[in-house]
Amino acid sequence: MPQTHCDLRDDIMQERVFVTGGPSATRALGKRLGGQLPPGAVLALVGELGSGKTCFTKGLCSGLGVPMRQVNSPSYAFVNQYRGRLPVLHLDLYRIPDLESALDLGMLDYVEQARSGVMVVEWAERVLGLASDDWLRVDFTVLSARRREIAFTPLGERASTLLARLTES
Ligand SMILES: Nc1ncnc2c1ncn2[C@@H]1O[C@H](COP(=O)(O)OP(=O)(O)OP(=O)(O)O)[C@@H](O)[C@H]1O
Ligand SMILES: [Mg+2]
Repeated sequence: MPQTHCDLRDDIMQERVFVTGGPSATRALGKRLGGQLPPGAVLALVGELGSGKTCFTKGLCSGLGVPMRQVNSPSYAFVNQYRGRLPVLHLDLYRIPDLESALDLGMLDYVEQARSGVMVVEWAERVLGLASDDWLRVDFTVLSARRREIAFTPLGERASTLLARLTES
């Protein structure tokens, strides 16, 4: 049978899964990724309450040169900004019910700003419809009191390249 352009390309990386045994391992995983993030990267974090999204973000920001104590969940402020090797936008959409509300709050402006920095979004399922080539989805699952499954899925080719680098190092 002839191959079509719709065939799955094996050079586009699919999901990569890690299991961490405590908060420091989750922070270390985030830090490793943060050290390698290029401008324009967007991390879309998805997972239930207490599954480790903020913990991972603290590590990620530390890998970007942001002091960890500055990094807190912006549940009430909706967005925090930090200054590291790159500017970092940290959004938390927990209180935002849907894409329309996120757009009303200026979500597209943040996506635009993120092109020259890094954006991390907690409760990102609300805005996955805006995803572009640079978006890396990260799913958090609680396995036990201290174990978390953290699964990375690139949503485009550039995110796929980034993920390949993370898993090589
Ligand atoms: N392996 C682990 N990785 C991350 N956090 C862990 C782990 N094991 C236990 N924990 C605990 O789980 C909690 C994770 O909290 P965190 O604020 O990071 O979650 P969250 O997903 O951001 O929650 P929320 O949806 O409320 O923002 C912390 O209390 C942390 O100590
Ligand atoms: Mg959080």
